[in-house]
Amino acid sequence: MDISPSATQPKTVSPKPPDGMDAELSKLGNNLVTKFHVLMRISQIYDSKNVALNQFVQEFLDTINALIKREGVLSLKIRKDDFFLNDQRLRYSVEGFTSFKYLLTQWKKRLIGEVIFRTSMEEGSLRYFIYTLINLEEGREENADLLRRQLESRNITSIEANPLEVVEGEEEAFTVQKEDEREVAKKIFFETIGTIKEVITNIKGKQHADVRKLKRLAQKAIHLVIEDESILLGMTMIKNYDEYTFNHSVNVSIYSLAIGKRLGFSKKTLTELGITALLHDIGKSKIPREVLNKPAALNDEEWEMMKRHPLMGVEVVLNLKQLGEINPRMVVGIFDHHLMPDLSGYPKLFRKKEVSLFGRIIQISDAYDAMTTPRIYKKIPYTPGQALALMLREKAAHFDPLLLKIFIGLVGVYPIGSLVLLNTHEIGIVYKTNLESMWLDRPIVLLVDRDEEGHPKKELVDLTEADGGGGYKRTIVKTLDPYKYHIDIAKYFL
Ligand SMILES: [Fe+2]
Ligand SMILES: [Fe+2]
Repeated sequence: MDISPSATQPKTVSPKPPDGMDAELSKLGNNLVTKFHVLMRISQIYDSKNVALNQFVQEFLDTINALIKREGVLSLKIRKDDFFLNDQRLRYSVEGFTSFKYLLTQWKKRLIGEVIFRTSMEEGSLRYFIYTLINLEEGREENADLLRRQLESRNITSIEANPLEVVEGEEEAFTVQKEDEREVAKKIFFETIGTIKEVITNIKGKQHADVRKLKRLAQKAIHLVIEDESILLGMTMIKNYDEYTFNHSVNVSIYSLAIGKRLGFSKKTLTELGITALLHDIGKSKIPREVLNKPAALNDEEWEMMKRHPLMGVEVVLNLKQLGEINPRMVVGIFDHHLMPDLSGYPKLFRKKEVSLFGRIIQISDAYDAMTTPRIYKKIPYTPGQALALMLREKAAHFDPLLLKIFIGLVGVYPIGSLVLLNTHEIGIVYKTNLESMWLDRPIVLLVDRDEEGHPKKELVDLTEADGGGGYKRTIVKTLDPYKYHIDIAKYFL
C-alpha cells in the first residue's frame, strides 16, 4: 500500500520547501534511522525482555513519537536504495551512512519495503514489533503479510508493514542523469567508503575480500570523473574524523583518477589506478589500532612498524583470492606510494629503481588529503591553499614536479572547498573550478552569508561574471581559515 501525503499528513504540516525536506524533519528522520539500526542490532543479541534494551527502546520511542506528533501518520519506505519519510527522500549524513546501509540491507533481506506507524508508540508494541521483524525468515515473499498478522494477533494495529517493491530496471546498466549527478556521486562516494571498510574488516578477520565490488565502484567513479570531475572532487571535502582510513582511501582514489584523466589514461588504466588508490593503505590493516590512532608522536619501534605498511599492502594484495583482478602495475603502485622520487621515503631499497607512475600519482593525492584532513594528533588541518603551498615550496622534492603541476591545475589556485573572502565583502566556498586555465583564479563560489532571517544564502556565483564596466562582479581577495570562522565546509557538499 502506498500512502499519499494528502491522505496521511495533517493539514498543519508545513509545505515542502523547493529544495527538499525541511531541516528539522531531516534531522528527526536521520535520528530515527540511527535508532532503528541500533535497536535492531541490540535486539539480535538480547531477548526482548532484557534490561539492556531499555535505554535503546526509550530512545527509539522518543524519536518516533516526536515524528508522529509532527507528521501524524509516519511512513518509512524503501525505494531503490533510499529511504523515504512520508514520500520525501531522506538524505543521509556521513555519520548516518552506516545506519542507512544496515537498515536498508536488513529490510531488503526480509523483503520488507515499508513500515507505517499510525499512532504514537508505546514500549510493549515496539518491543514485539522489533522482535517479530528480526525473526522473519530472509527472502520469504509473504513476510510483510506475516508481520502484519502477527501484530494483529497482539492487537497492535498502529503498525503496518508492506512488502519491498521491486523497481524495474534496478539492475540495469549504470547511467547517469545529468541533473542527478551530485546525488549519484554522493551515493558512489558513501558506498565506496562502506565497501573499503568491508574489505579491510574482512582482511583483518582473514576472510574473503570482495575486490570485484571495488572494481565496479571504481568504474562508476570513473564515469563521473570523466563527465564532471568537480562533483567528486567536492565530495573529498566530506572529511570524516572517525573513519579516516576508509574516507582517506576514497579521497585518494578520487584525486588519483582526476590526475589520471588529465594524463589521458584509458578507462582500463583508470580502473586499475582507482583500485590501486583504494587499496594503497591496505597494509595498515595489519598494524594495531593503538599505533594507527595514537594521539601522540610514534616511538621508534612504532614508526618502523608504520613504515612497513606499503610492503604489508603488497602481501595482502597478493594473498587476495581474486588475484585475477590485480596486476603487477597495481602491486608496484602500492609498494611505491611512499618512496618519493629521490627514494628518500620508505621502504628503504637496496638498489635504485624508478618510482612507478601509479606510485607517484598516489603519493601526491595521499599527501594532499592527509594534510587537509583533521587527525587525532592534528585537529586543525591545513587549508587546501596552505597544503598546496607547502607541497610546492617546502616539500617539492617529495613529489614528481610535472604531476604536482597537473594536480594544482586540477584543484585550482583556489581548490574546491576553500573558504574565500570576496571584494564585495561576501564570504563563500569554492564550489567548482572553472575549467578554462585562464580562469583558474575565478572559480564558481557558493556564498555562505546569511540573509536577513539568518538563513544561509546558498547562492552560487560565477566569478567570471562581468560587472558591465570592463571588470568582474566579484573577485577573491583572500582565503580564510574555516576553523576560525566555525564553518563546517563539508556540510555544503552533502
Ligand atoms: Fe600510506
Ligand atoms: Fe595513505
